Amino acid sequence: MKIAILGASSLTASALIPMILEETDAELHLISSKKIETHDERVSGTTVDYLNKAELKSAILSNIPQVIVNTAALTNVDACEIDRSTAWHINVSLVEHLARLARITDAHLVHFSTDYVFDGAKGPYIENDIPSPINYYGKTKLASENACLSLSPDATVIRTNVLYGPNAAHTDFVRWVLTMIESNEDVRVVSDQFSNPTYIDDLAEAVVRIILRKRTGVYHVGGANYLSRYDFAVAIAEFFKLDPSSLKPVTTAELAQPAKRPLKGGLITLKAESDLRMKFRGIESGLTSLRQALFARVLESNTNKPTPLW
Ligand SMILES: NC(=O)c1ccc[n+]([C@@H]2O[C@H](COP(=O)([O-])OP(=O)(O)OC[C@H]3O[C@@H](n4cnc5c(N)ncnc54)[C@H](OP(=O)(O)O)[C@@H]3O)[C@@H](O)[C@H]2O)c1
Repeated sequence: MKIAILGASSLTASALIPMILEETDAELHLISSKKIETHDERVSGTTVDYLNKAELKSAILSNIPQVIVNTAALTNVDACEIDRSTAWHINVSLVEHLARLARITDAHLVHFSTDYVFDGAKGPYIENDIPSPINYYGKTKLASENACLSLSPDATVIRTNVLYGPNAAHTDFVRWVLTMIESNEDVRVVSDQFSNPTYIDDLAEAVVRIILRKRTGVYHVGGANYLSRYDFAVAIAEFFKLDPSSLKPVTTAELAQPAKRPLKGGLITLKAESDLRMKFRGIESGLTSLRQALFARVLESNTNKPTPLW
C-alpha cells in the first residue's frame, strides 16, 4: 500500500508518519510546502506550492497512492479570520482539488476537521449534530468536510480538538502553558471555553485503524476529559510540578480575540472508540506519555549541552 501525507510538517503528521512506518508495511509519499528530507527507504517526498493545482496533481498522479491523508491546513483561528483568502485556499480549495484527485485515482481520502464546525452552545457534540460555525476557520473546515464527502464518496472526515504532543516544532497548548509559566509573567487563560484535549498519538492510531479497516464517513476523536482551558492549564502546571499561581482565569469576552470562539465545544467519541476498538487517553495519561517522550528525546540526544524539555 502507498500512502500520501499532505502537510508533512504538521503536528499530526509528526505522530502519524512514525506510527504508519511502525505499524504497517506501507510506503509513504510525503507532500509539503517545505523542503523534505527523507532518511527511510520506504519514504519519498515532494515539495509543492499548494496554490498550484498542477503541482499537486503531478505529485499525486506520479505516485498513485491508495490512501491520501490531508493534514495541511491553516489552523491558526485568528489568522483565518484576518487572512480569509489564504484560509479559503488552503482549507477549502486545496481539499476540493484533492477530493477530485482521490475520486479519479480511486484513493481513500482521509481529512481532518474540528469541533469549531459547531457553535459551542451545547457541546460536546456527536457526529450527527448539526454544524453551525461562528468563525471563519470553522466555516472553512465545514466547507472542506462537505467538499470531501460530496466529491469523494469514500472519504473519511476526522474531527478532533486541542491536539498536544511531544513535537518540539509546534507550539501546542501544553507547550504554550509551560513556556508562559516559565516566563514568570501573569498568563491569562480562558475559563469558559470547554473541550476534550487530544493526545496526538491517539489521533494517529485512529487514522491508522481507519485506513486499515477502510472506514469512511465522519468520526470524532478526542480525549477522555472534558474541561475548560483554564482547568487544563492548571492541570498541566501541577503535573509538571510548576506553580500555577501565575495562571489567571479570564472570560472569552475579556480576551477579545479577533475570531469568536465556541464556548462549549468538544467531541463525543463513542463511535470511534467502539468502531475502532480504542480507548482515548485522559489528560493524566496524555501528559504522562508526553513527559516520557520528552525524556526519551533528551536521553537520545548525544550532546553534553542541557536540552530544554519544551
Ligand atoms: N491542532 C489542533 O489543535 C487541531 C484541532 C482541531 C482540528 N485540527 C485539524 O487537524 C488537522 C491537522 O492540524 P495540525 O495542528 O496537525 O496542523 P499544523 O501543525 O498547524 O500544520 C498544518 C500544516 O499545513 C501546511 N500548510 C500549508 N499551507 C499553510 C499555511 N499557509 N499556513 C500554515 N500551514 C500551512 C504546513 O505543512 P507543510 O508545509 O508541510 O505542507 C503545516 O505544517 C487540520 O486539518 C486541523 O484543522 C487541529
